[in-house]
Amino acid sequence: MKVIGFLGSPRLSGICARLLDCALAGAASKGAEIKRFDLIKMDIRHCMGCCKCMFDDPSLKIGRCPLSDDMATILEEYLAADGYIMASPVYDGSVTSLMKKFLERKIALTYRPQEAYAKIGEARAPAEFKKRVAMIVTGNCSDEFREVMGDPCFEMMEAHFMIEQVMTTEKMYVGGVENMADAVREEKCAAAHAMGARLVDEIRAAQT
Ligand SMILES: Cc1cc2nc3c(=O)[nH]c(=O)nc-3n(C[C@H](O)[C@H](O)[C@H](O)COP(=O)(O)O)c2cc1C
Repeated sequence: MKVIGFLGSPRLSGICARLLDCALAGAASKGAEIKRFDLIKMDIRHCMGCCKCMFDDPSLKIGRCPLSDDMATILEEYLAADGYIMASPVYDGSVTSLMKKFLERKIALTYRPQEAYAKIGEARAPAEFKKRVAMIVTGNCSDEFREVMGDPCFEMMEAHFMIEQVMTTEKMYVGGVENMADAVREEKCAAAHAMGARLVDEIRAAQT
């Protein structure tokens, strides 16, 4: 079983990265193989909106994109994984542009006939609800702003997963990160660890 974490923060050692690491460690504690993708280190170019990937041969699991970068390799590993942990800070009330850029390029995992106007794409390799995703969003605004700051981020990250038939297990919003007391940070890390462990339990249950 493999669980991949995607870090949408440009800061590799910030609180978002720390929480993601804790969640991945929790997944590993249940026997999962883990990997963290730092999106800032990857060559991911902006979607240019040609939709060639989406219209490409439906027998392909990943539609071919004319852009030559790391995305095809990332998507290969993505499809081979059983679970995901998505982590992004809130920037201006949404996920970071780094995370959004990655999410847009995931459209290569969907297929839509060119003539099917106004229709949503379908998953090329539907997960049939056997895969799971957990999400972490961090923000300066305190936990009581979860609805305003966290929910738009969760919704944005979740949209493709719904099409891919990957179910969300948990959405963790961690607010007040700027001046967080050490004890609170450790509490949140423990919660993220437990969330990662539960993710693996849920994947196992879904796959048996
Ligand atoms: C450009 C920018 C925009 C931000 N916008 C928000 C925001 O809308 N709401 C919020 O709660 N925090 C906001 N923040 C604070 C970040 O969410 C916070 O610094 C981040 O979660 C910390 O994670 P990191 O350690 O990975 O950088 C913003 C920070 C930056 C740099």
